[in-house]
Amino acid sequence: MVELEDLPNVGSKTAQKLREAGFGDMMRLATATAKELSVKADIGEGVAEKIIEAARKAERIDFETALDVMERRKDVGRITTGSKALDELIGGGIETQAITEVFGEYGSGKSQLAHELVVTVQLPEDKGGLNGEAVFIDTENTFRPERVEQIANAFELNIEEVMERIYIARAFNSSHQILMAEKVNELIQEGKDIRLVIVDSLTSHFRAEYVGRESLATRQQKLNQHLHTLQNIANTYNAAIFVTNQVQARPDAFFGSPTKAIGGHVLGHAATYRIWLKKGLAGKRIARLVDSPHLPEGECVFKITNDGIVD
Ligand code: GTP
Ligand code: MG
Repeated sequence: MVELEDLPNVGSKTAQKLREAGFGDMMRLATATAKELSVKADIGEGVAEKIIEAARKAERIDFETALDVMERRKDVGRITTGSKALDELIGGGIETQAITEVFGEYGSGKSQLAHELVVTVQLPEDKGGLNGEAVFIDTENTFRPERVEQIANAFELNIEEVMERIYIARAFNSSHQILMAEKVNELIQEGKDIRLVIVDSLTSHFRAEYVGRESLATRQQKLNQHLHTLQNIANTYNAAIFVTNQVQARPDAFFGSPTKAIGGHVLGHAATYRIWLKKGLAGKRIARLVDSPHLPEGECVFKITNDGIVD
């Protein structure tokens, strides 16, 4: 295995700086940007570029053959949502190596799905899980352990074991949120088997902090950086990323579809899967898959019950 110190331009001092800045893992280093590395590890951007290039060579990710890509795609895992219909709609469950965005108005079930997934990711593979652990980045103080307990009970899992495998981070503002996402790398390097990262809600802090037209560019740039971090985690560690995004029902929207107006372009392009949730009657929810690159558009219905998400 190649160590940091084996890379050209990396002495013991630089290696230490890199480790302290969270780039101890060769793959993490290889997927960093020169700018990110120079800011966080306090090294010149030119040197940073060379180090990253060397790490990419070491990890053989400068060029890949189509066969390599095919092999990597074989590792893609899926996490059940609890509803067969919803799983089917999105191609078999929430996918690893991808970002899934769920958007909809208040009460549409975004946080409920998040609570379901932090449990189902822990299930064995033959039950629709990945036998993995979860991170829940909570920006609105919505995480409810009692709700997780209910859902874990429904799956007849040991409550304490389930709780111990969910890492909660309260994010107080957008910078803190960005930082907590970066820290997921450290958790994994410590040996935690994180296969799912939830950000609930992805956008609320950014919306509250960057108000008005003049701050829109900064907001999108920061959000883009955050999504880059998340995508990086997804690719590097074969993890699923699940983010929520609240949208107001727009009475002025033509044809009743608000999907064009949400999150701006940055979010639209970063998310591999986008699920639009709508409220129905008697606990029913309607999910619609939108703008997905390789799945047909479609709709399904699921229910939110005391046992969690079901058909
Ligand atoms: P915002 O965060 O406000 O944008 O909404 P959201 O989309 O995250 O909504 P959330 O997932 O919190 O859904 C809330 C709804 O889920 C409630 O209105 C209930 O209908 C349902 N719900 C929440 N907890 C339970 C529960 O324990 N049992 C049942 N049956 N339904 C629940
Ligand atoms: Mg919510």
